[in-house]
Order: sequence, then C-alpha cells, then structure tokens
Amino acid sequence: MTISTPPQSGDGLNMRLLDRIRREEGFHVSWEELATVSDRVHDDLDALDAFGFGIERHPGRGVAYRGPSDRLCPDQIEHQLETRRIGRRIAVWNRASSTNDLAARAASSMANDGLVVLAEEQTAGRGRRGRPWSAPARSSILISVVIFPPGHLVSGRPETEAADGRGWLTALGAVAVAQVVSAWTGRDARIKWPNDVRIDGRKVAGILVEQAKGTTRPDGSGFGGGAVIGIGLNANLTAEDLPAELRERSTSLQILRNGEPVDRSELARDLIRRLDSLYEQGWANGLDSLSSLWRDRSEHLGSGVRVTTPAGPVVGRLVDLDVRRGLTLADPHPVPPSLVREITIPLAEVLSLEGNVELVRLQC
Ligand code: BTN
Repeated sequence: MTISTPPQSGDGLNMRLLDRIRREEGFHVSWEELATVSDRVHDDLDALDAFGFGIERHPGRGVAYRGPSDRLCPDQIEHQLETRRIGRRIAVWNRASSTNDLAARAASSMANDGLVVLAEEQTAGRGRRGRPWSAPARSSILISVVIFPPGHLVSGRPETEAADGRGWLTALGAVAVAQVVSAWTGRDARIKWPNDVRIDGRKVAGILVEQAKGTTRPDGSGFGGGAVIGIGLNANLTAEDLPAELRERSTSLQILRNGEPVDRSELARDLIRRLDSLYEQGWANGLDSLSSLWRDRSEHLGSGVRVTTPAGPVVGRLVDLDVRRGLTLADPHPVPPSLVREITIPLAEVLSLEGNVELVRLQC
C-alpha cells in the first residue's frame, strides 16, 4: 500500500523565495532581488500568504518575513532535508486517528521504508501501555516514521519493550528528541526510562515504538517486518493548554522558551534529520553507536533505581547503561565497605525501571 499525499500538502510553494525573505529576519528584501529568485513573485507570495506564512509587502521597500504558518508545511519540511533513509517521503495529515496506525499500515510495503507521517491532530493517539496521547490541533509534533531496520539493530527479543529489539529504536527516538529539545530550548533534556524526554522532571515528549507485522527483509533478518517510531513532542502549548492533571508533570517547548512559540515545520525537519543521522550511524556501526549518547542523556545515571526483572526486583545505584551490556547497578552499602558489588542486567531482562529510589542494600 502507498499513502497518497493528502490534500493539505503545501505542494508547489516557492521555498527558495521563502528562505530568502526569512534570512533577512524581519528586514525587507527588495523587489529587484526577489525577481532573481522567482519569475512569478506575486503569485508565489500569494501562495505563501494563503498557506499562512506572515508576508509583509511594501511597494517601495519590498517584502519582509513576519513569521511561520501555524500549519505544518510539507514543502518547508522537505526543503534541503537531505537525509539518507528517514524522510524519503513526508505525508502531513490534517487529522488522523493515530499516525502510528497510518505508519503501521504503510509498513506493509517496503516501498514505504523511510516514510514520515505527521498529523496536525489525532483522534485516537496513544502512548505506552495503551494510555491516550492527546494534544490540541496544530500545537505539537505528532510524527511516526516507518523503517525496516536491519537484523543487527533489532536482534534479541523484540517483544521486550526495553530490550535490544524495540529498545534500540526507542533509545534512538529518545536521543534524537532529547537533542532537539536541548537545541531548541538551551536546556538539558534527559531521558526517563524508557521513553520519556524531560526537562527538570517535566515531560516534554514521549516515544512509542511499535512493530509492524507483514514484510520481512529479503535476507530474512530484522523484526520480520517494519517498525514504527512514533513521537509526540509538546511544541506550542501554553501551561493552560496542558490538561490540569498533567500540568505539574508536563511542559512544552513554548513554555521552556518563556512563551516564544516555535516554527513547527523547522522543528520537524530538525527532528527528522537527527533521527536519520542516528539511524544511519546504527546501520554503519551497530548497536554501540548509540550507547554513549544514550547513557549521557539518562536521567537515572548515578541515582537509585529499582529494576524489575523476571527473577524479581533489583535495587541499587545505576552506574552504567549500555545498549549491548545492559544496566549496571552498584550495591550502595557493600559489606565490607571496600567491596564494590555490582550487577549487570541485560536489557532483555529489564521489565521496568523506577527511578528516584531510596537506596538500601542491593537485593539480588
Ligand atoms: C508515551 O509517552 O507514552 C508515548 C507517546 C507517543 C505519542 C505519539 S504521537 C505520534 C504517534 N502516534 C500515536 O498514536 N502515538 C505516537
């Protein structure tokens, strides 16, 4: 199945013209100069205007950029995207049940490898453990990526959420989002196990990786099908836009930028580029390519955690996270004190992890 480009696509907008005006950051660009970028300047400006971009025209001074459209613009996202695997096609939907569902359907064909599905609004968006994920229309980045990862990135037990199956892809999404959030806010974004991106303990994004059944890579490796990396990133939401019950625990880029909204199309492009770059490194260098980035972004490193394993809970100080080796916990009260006792739990054994746990003797 292929997904046809939905009607709200911005096909045909002159992005070179938009770029030229944006580059002046509010100052006017002369009509003479714009004529070198487009031979239909007025038509092209009309189209940008109609899409919602802030375009100011002055008969003498020329044209000035006054701000982004509040709609996601496929042309803008694709413009100079230059990714290798993710973002080969971009589809923006005005309203979808869940972008993960659309992406999973598209994953029945390998022709859709690298497809990115975005929606302005979801009617049945979901998070982990079947929880709902909702966001006001045109406020967020609701994105799902279709990929067919090679066997060396999803080997192990894909059914275990945090294991080296879906787990590497979750880590990929979380690291990319944490990088984006830091870049757009100047703040230190951290990953709360396994899939939340937070700033100062407040969630700004969540990742939901799902396995799409259907197609197998020609060499038989991988999941036995495609995978979907779904990301919900709170972008232009004010505190009042957040549900009252989540207000203490959630935040958005706009809030973190002291009320200044973001250009969501630029944000989406940045995210797609980072996802692609990390994925590409995984293809080239395997699971380890993500380890240090993932470890350095962990919210839990150095603090007390309780890890639930099939053999029971283990409590200790998290001293290392490694995609290949697993989680290493240290006994905070070794006897004798000179004995540093550590235990490493393979990711495939991690059923859940709870942070901020008061440290008692390591039980294992
Ligand atoms: C979580 O924190 O529990 C994960 C939330 C994932 C939400 C995103 S929004 C885009 C994609 N479509 C969905 O239905 N879910 C993911």
